[in-house]
Amino acid sequence: MNLAIFASGQGSNFSAIVKAIKRGKVKARSVLLVCDKPDARVIGRAKKAKVAVILVRREDFASRIDFETAISQRLKSYKIDLIALAGFMRMLSPGFVRKYRNRIINIHPSLLPAFKGSHAIKDALEAGVASTGVTVHFVDEEMDHGPVILQQEVRITNKDTLASLEKRIHSVEHKLYPQAIRLFFEKKIKIKGRKVEISNP
Ligand code: GAR
Repeated sequence: MNLAIFASGQGSNFSAIVKAIKRGKVKARSVLLVCDKPDARVIGRAKKAKVAVILVRREDFASRIDFETAISQRLKSYKIDLIALAGFMRMLSPGFVRKYRNRIINIHPSLLPAFKGSHAIKDALEAGVASTGVTVHFVDEEMDHGPVILQQEVRITNKDTLASLEKRIHSVEHKLYPQAIRLFFEKKIKIKGRKVEISNP
């Protein structure tokens, strides 16, 4: 199975996935990084781990469609089975989602459908809810939306700061995302309409 990780930022999920592959916990034949930000920390992590990097900057294209076409063309020769969005802070167009239907997954730091968007951890803390969590889901045409694969709750205490909550959420993400990718590669995830069924996790 060939995996493309799309990331724009720090890359801690990227590193957790690559580590799981290197340890043989996730059986990927190849892995590569697609990044849209030349100065993102994730690029340094990929170079260190000897993972191929495809850098495609949105600013170099007239439209989102041209930008995504360039990504698709560069992905062609890699015969990608799964795209894992790991902090890729861009909405993919409906056309791109259709092209890779049920082969794009995303991780989000909340129990979706609660707290969509790019400040989910802060939003949950400010809302004063007792718990939040992490969701891995198939990507559809809407933002942070689509059939849920795995979810794990993270309790919020009244001592939590943004930093402490982020730390706990990230450590859950670093286990949950490799687990979801393993299940996908082992063909244990069946998607029936909007529902996901997982066999022998
Ligand atoms: C992760 O917390 C991920 O859940 C979040 O971006 C972070 C990336 O961290 N994604 C979203 O908010 C998607 N809406 P990382 O670059 O260290 O992996």
